[in-house]
Amino acid sequence: MSETPQPADLIVFGGTGDLSMRKLLPALYHCDRDGRLSPETRIIAMSRGGLDDADFRGKVDAQVRASVPVDDPDVWQRFLGRLHHVSVDIGGEDMTGWEKITAMLGGHEERTRVFYLASPPMTFGSFCRQLDRVGLVTPASRVVLEKPLGRDLASAQRINDEVGAIFDERQIYRIDHYLGKETVQNLLVLRFANAFLEPIWNSLWIDHVQITAAETVGTPGRRGYYDHAGALRDMVQNHLLQLLCLVAMEPPSRNDRESIRDEKVKVLQSLRPIVGGEVDRFTVRGQYTAGEFGGARVPGYLDEPDNTAPTETSHRVETFAAIRAEVKNWRWAGVPFYLRTGKRMPYRCSEIVVQFKDVPHSIFPGSTPNRLVLRLQPSEGIQLHIMAKEPGAGEVALKPVPLSLSFAETFTSRVPEAYERLLMDVLTGNPTLFMRRDEVEAAWLWIDPILREWESHGTPPEPYPAGSSGPAGAHELVARSGRTWHEGDPA
Ligand code: BG6
Repeated sequence: MSETPQPADLIVFGGTGDLSMRKLLPALYHCDRDGRLSPETRIIAMSRGGLDDADFRGKVDAQVRASVPVDDPDVWQRFLGRLHHVSVDIGGEDMTGWEKITAMLGGHEERTRVFYLASPPMTFGSFCRQLDRVGLVTPASRVVLEKPLGRDLASAQRINDEVGAIFDERQIYRIDHYLGKETVQNLLVLRFANAFLEPIWNSLWIDHVQITAAETVGTPGRRGYYDHAGALRDMVQNHLLQLLCLVAMEPPSRNDRESIRDEKVKVLQSLRPIVGGEVDRFTVRGQYTAGEFGGARVPGYLDEPDNTAPTETSHRVETFAAIRAEVKNWRWAGVPFYLRTGKRMPYRCSEIVVQFKDVPHSIFPGSTPNRLVLRLQPSEGIQLHIMAKEPGAGEVALKPVPLSLSFAETFTSRVPEAYERLLMDVLTGNPTLFMRRDEVEAAWLWIDPILREWESHGTPPEPYPAGSSGPAGAHELVARSGRTWHEGDPA
């Protein structure tokens, strides 16, 4: 039985920005439509914008309404009615905005109060201090930190210290939206609610694991962010390493807030460091150049339309990264984990491929090893590729065929967006799917030497044409041990 939703105030810094308009507000609308928000819950956007409530509601009506199913106009109006806007002078002297938000929240100290920082990470500390200064941090407050948390280990520690000086660790929710994806949670269910996989989930039976997050989008208009992030910080340090943790972790004793996170940290701490000269051997970085894409010619990274011109840094930033990682423990010794992510790849596909070893002795020609594919997006599903005999008399002919679970075909309910799940978890106080401080820092500790090595090279990343499957070096990375990347079916 679902619990009655409790009233809450959700205050979003950067509330009129891209993340808010594209992800947070649509997700909150879905939660509202499904009856998961209390009638009294308010959503308060804070920005420099100079908007009032009516302006903000008009903006959301114009920009968000078209991207969500509005089957009942009354529900849409109810949602708009929850929205407020407070203009703040960020980092300036003018306290009017802070006074206004203090007055709005006054008298509701017992309510869950969520401060969602959808602003650059370097602002997290000063926002938290300001919230504390004006007395808005109550015992029922929580703070959500968007990724990337810092640029390296030292800056992540600094931000964690600054936020930790105001909020207790139990009040801090570090978001990685990949953890809210349905298939990602299904991976835990697949592994820990079924007995058959566990005995073969180890180096005796598994040859290697591939984790891919391929995107078709480029980075138009994002140069300011992307030049300083790059694929390693933007996708690998968080999303791909989180997926690796869920594949490699030991079975937790409970499905609770700490048990799963304890096991994930152990995986991160077991990653074999890639340092110095090994970085060139075990990692590849690329940058897309102009190419054919979806029947049209698209520009390369350096020529993407943007309001800032490319700089020295733009030439060195990677839009593609591939890494051969290893988890040094009894279960995984000797099993490579190949990670790969890139922009402007030929099709969008995020998946985890677990490649089993071949049969110990083959009596049929043409058999290939089993493979388990967990497709995160698009077309969420799970496929186990097994060998079967093709019907017919005469010679036995083998064919790999998939045992398939398609979520869309098996379940009638809508697959929720990751942010819906995660926002509800913050509002109800469940941090299981959020990253703990030690997790984030362990991930940076492993990433830092790769970053340092890449940044000390004067050489630009390897070019790959937009619409291709990445730089040649990425194929060599797996080919060196006789393997190939799994190229999922375009969906
Ligand atoms: C974000 C990255 O965290 O994830 C983006 O900053 C990336 O660069 C996005 O495009 C991918 O998310 P999804 O859910 O579309 O796979």
